[in-house]
Amino acid sequence: MARLNLQVGPCRRRELPTLREMLNDVFITERGARGDLFDFAPLLYSEANLENLRVVRMRGRIVGHAGILPRPIRWRSQVLRAGLIGGVCAREDLRGTGIGTLAMENVAERMAELDLDFGVLWTGSGGFYERLGWRHAGGIAVMRIAEAAEAGEVRHEIMPFAGSPFEPEDLHELHEGAARTEVIRTPEETRIALTSAGRGALLALEGGRLNGYAAHTQGDVREIEGDSEACVSLLTHAAGLGHRLCVFPLNDPRIPEVAAALPVDVERRPLGMVLIVDREGLVGKIEAETGHSAQELGIGEDLDDEALLARVFGDESREPTDDPLPLDVHIGYLDHV
Ligand SMILES: CC(C)(COP(=O)(O)OP(=O)(O)OC[C@H]1O[C@@H](n2cnc3c(N)ncnc32)[C@H](O)[C@@H]1OP(=O)(O)O)[C@@H](O)C(=O)NCCC(=O)NCCS
Repeated sequence: MARLNLQVGPCRRRELPTLREMLNDVFITERGARGDLFDFAPLLYSEANLENLRVVRMRGRIVGHAGILPRPIRWRSQVLRAGLIGGVCAREDLRGTGIGTLAMENVAERMAELDLDFGVLWTGSGGFYERLGWRHAGGIAVMRIAEAAEAGEVRHEIMPFAGSPFEPEDLHELHEGAARTEVIRTPEETRIALTSAGRGALLALEGGRLNGYAAHTQGDVREIEGDSEACVSLLTHAAGLGHRLCVFPLNDPRIPEVAAALPVDVERRPLGMVLIVDREGLVGKIEAETGHSAQELGIGEDLDDEALLARVFGDESREPTDDPLPLDVHIGYLDHV
């Protein structure tokens, strides 16, 4: 592949409008979608994150991009440092000329500079990232809700979050308080996840008390909080509004209870694609937390990165276990807010 004369580096403040235009051309216009990518992910595409928006330039003009949003993820008493990758693209007329590769190589360097443990991304173009060392890893459970669910009984009072007397902080409290949540999210991130363009939430109340919520995009429920009864009420109501998918952590104990009450199918899928950035740092945190050496855990130096990823994050067939590995991190709940 003949390489063009390309430069790569952080986006400059004055380039943000051009970057915005290119990203909207690729991810909105090309896909026949509506909206503005910068509104969907305001923390990723913010002035505060300029250094992590890596742009590829050709003769001074932006022709490609890959962005990183650094996010801490709680795993037991450790904090894993992840980079969420978004907006990877090359201008349509220049694809296949090495722009995407250059952007992603630069992202890997930047993630190392930022001292991140690993990167994670969600994509339908796995082949492109596999060439660069990224591998499918981890798992989530995706519940497909049948139309017949609409006929179910709704035991809770359900109301839209917008216009309710509740604040994002009330929902954040539920999110943080749930023992299953292994995600460190700031109240600001919760607010954006609930209120930014195209997003919303349904609330489940019992006797006026907030029991659960379902945070959704226009199509899917991305996150559901509350016990399984609250989930059943929320999903029944959501089905009536046309929501057909709900994402759960892989082995969420509420899944069988919800599936017993509603006509749903549950499919296990890889969490996303992961690239280990700081192998020593990641292994060190696992050793510190478990009190076992890397050798004892089967993640010694003899393992290549691919085998290490499989051992550390497991795959979508992973069942609950008392073993410390694979890690149980519900990063499916994170997105590029
Ligand atoms: C995916 C994308 C970023 C790749 O950028 P690009 O500049 O065209 O990629 P490169 O020129 O660096 O491609 C390098 C190689 O990857 C291959 N490749 C590109 N897209 C691929 C895909 N989806 N699956 C498998 N291989 C792919 C190319 O054929 C090329 O292979 P070669 O070196 O053997 O010729 C670009 O196609 C794009 O902007 N797509 C639309 C936006 C998108 O879908 N982004 C990903 C969202 S997660």
